[in-house]
Amino acid sequence: METASPYFIGIDSSTTATKAILIDREGKIIAIASSEYSFETPFPLWSEQDPQLWWNATVESIRQAVKAGGIAPQDVKGIGLTGQMHGLVILDQDGQVLRPAILWNDQRTQRQCDFIREVIGKKEFIQLTGNDALTGFTAPKILWVRDEEPEIYRKIAHVLLPKDYVRLKLTGEYAIDRADGSGTVLFDLARRDWSSELIQKLGMQREWFPPTFEGTAATGRLTQAAAAATGLSEGIPVFAGGGDQSAAAVGTGAVEEGIVSISLGTSGVVFATADHPFIEPEGRLHAFCHAVPGKWHLMGVMLSAAGSLRWFRDTFFKEKISYDEIVSAAAQSPAGSQGLLFMPYLTGERTPYPDPLARGGFVGITVRNTFGDFTRAVLEGVAFGLRDSFELMKGAGLSGIDHVRITGGGARNPTWLQIIADVLNTQIYTVDSEEGAAFGAALLAATGAGVFSTVEEACRNTIHRMEGVKPGENASLYEELYGEYRSLYPALKDGFHRLPKILD
Ligand code: XUL
Repeated sequence: METASPYFIGIDSSTTATKAILIDREGKIIAIASSEYSFETPFPLWSEQDPQLWWNATVESIRQAVKAGGIAPQDVKGIGLTGQMHGLVILDQDGQVLRPAILWNDQRTQRQCDFIREVIGKKEFIQLTGNDALTGFTAPKILWVRDEEPEIYRKIAHVLLPKDYVRLKLTGEYAIDRADGSGTVLFDLARRDWSSELIQKLGMQREWFPPTFEGTAATGRLTQAAAAATGLSEGIPVFAGGGDQSAAAVGTGAVEEGIVSISLGTSGVVFATADHPFIEPEGRLHAFCHAVPGKWHLMGVMLSAAGSLRWFRDTFFKEKISYDEIVSAAAQSPAGSQGLLFMPYLTGERTPYPDPLARGGFVGITVRNTFGDFTRAVLEGVAFGLRDSFELMKGAGLSGIDHVRITGGGARNPTWLQIIADVLNTQIYTVDSEEGAAFGAALLAATGAGVFSTVEEACRNTIHRMEGVKPGENASLYEELYGEYRSLYPALKDGFHRLPKILD
């Protein structure tokens, strides 16, 4: 294989693994390596991880990728970072981690979200940060530590996000990119930087928060210790990168206005780039800075997308049935699953219902329903959930959606793709780039190093749109069923909120 030096590495510190992608100067993927870990749920609603896991996995995956690529380690000329967003990493003044990181999927902070809305005002908070105060975001987690672990809170000297802890280990520098920074909801979204006023009103210290950088900026250089650990050369630049959603958008080429990208992974994300800070006035969509310098994005996040299908398979069939078998059963069921509707709120929800207590369900079961109907209902329910975000985006006035791209594990499934095209009533395209966030981080590094002149150019040169799937004859049936789906959560919400109290 002919490859071209210099090389760049993108590192994605996700919730379940750290992935390293090695690319050459043309953006061609030379090697991919990953190292897995798990997260802890010590109490209901909690989700935590030891930051040391990310560092160990970073070292391991860099070494593996360089080895698998068969290149000289000194030909790697830059690293770009990405990772799970919103996780809270707190350190003392010596840079020691004070407690396990509280992750994006942790739901313990409802009381602190209410506090933020009360102190700042919901409308004012949305206008400033682009977002409502939601349990998954970072700011309420800091307040939770204040309320529940005051002795730890007193020792806080630095606040970082997961990939920025990896950055600290690589470079010795405290720094953050603006995409992840805005995901803390402590940013002035329009100014693309920390809001000192908001930080002060919430009783936090401005000094805890590191300097912010655009995604292609160099934030430091590899230290001698990190060079020894990874095998790379001391002094190579480490670029800012971005939170995983905006880096994934780079990795799939969703970097220009008019392209909406859907990622169908464990969670389901509908993402649109904007040239100006674009806010949905009720905060039902997230508005963050993009990893593309000077751009923003809007995003709807449903928490259980392909995760719903995995839950369905693992709970009822264990490994006895493959995803292919499951989906061929769904393909046998008629559109509408013989009247069965599925609500995908298995781990609470973010968009369009920011409600940690929202719950999933099958509605409309009769004795006629088959295994295929249940499976198809799951695929359809997830598609309806994606449509909720899509509608909010259109309603927020995002100008001219040119085309919709879809990526992620679920997008490999033709039955599901057709259902989504029908439910959205829009043609959807796959792309020839499968590696998402880590690839995006590598492209940000290559652009930062001057290999490409802009991120948009990097994407145009390396990522291409594939064939589209057009909406078919079921689109009008789904239009009606979507109305029924939408009526379910409002009808059941009060019960969802009473249930945990009864069970307590
Ligand atoms: C985005 C979000 C998730 C995490 C998980 O808002 O919460 O995508 O970043 O990786």
